Amino acid sequence: MTDRVGADLMPPTELGAVRVEPARPGDLAQIMTLERAGFSGRLWSPTAWAEEIGRLGHIVLVGRDAAGQPVGATAWSVVAEVAELLRLVVDPAQRRRGWGRRLVEAGLEWAAQAGAEVAFLEVAEDNQPASRLYLDLNFSVIDRRRDYYTPGQHAIVMRRAVPGALGDGHV
Ligand SMILES: CC(C)(COP(=O)(O)OP(=O)(O)OC[C@H]1O[C@@H](n2cnc3c(N)ncnc32)[C@H](O)[C@@H]1OP(=O)(O)O)[C@@H](O)C(=O)NCCC(=O)NCCS
Repeated sequence: MTDRVGADLMPPTELGAVRVEPARPGDLAQIMTLERAGFSGRLWSPTAWAEEIGRLGHIVLVGRDAAGQPVGATAWSVVAEVAELLRLVVDPAQRRRGWGRRLVEAGLEWAAQAGAEVAFLEVAEDNQPASRLYLDLNFSVIDRRRDYYTPGQHAIVMRRAVPGALGDGHV
């Protein structure tokens, strides 16, 4: 793994009037607002999010609208050549506007810069919006983990090549 895995690798991405940029510790309260609004059950704690911000080999990216308001967040890690999408949430009022896609694409871009060649994620089998998003972004289902979240709630494991990595498209 390269040691160049910090947030400094990820300058803000201008998307017209909107931005995706690495989170700072001061963004934690806004990220928790997204977390509480965006998920039902199994919330990440403030400590869990805080540990992802600024941690070596990890990044939290925040999407902001033209007014600078946070509309979504995603957490990623890279270990050796393997990236993992750890968390993704978009404000319910901002969904189906491409934010989820932009955040995952930004995570993949960071992962490529951090030396990853392949990205993995887990998603609840019954989470249709997230599954559709990941399939749209060329993730493939590679495994199913029974009772992964709670008894009866199974996980799907997905994988895709990281763009620009050696062997892109063949992993
Ligand atoms: C999953 C989530 C991040 C998607 O965010 P989003 O900003 O609405 O996604 P996008 O607008 O970028 O959607 C991109 C594509 O994903 C698919 N998609 C997104 N939401 C969908 C839905 N409700 N139903 C079906 N497909 C959906 C579509 O293919 C969509 O493309 P389209 O709008 O052109 O049809 C959002 O629904 C969310 O925060 N859910 C709760 C938290 C969560 O489940 N996180 C993922 C845990 S693994």
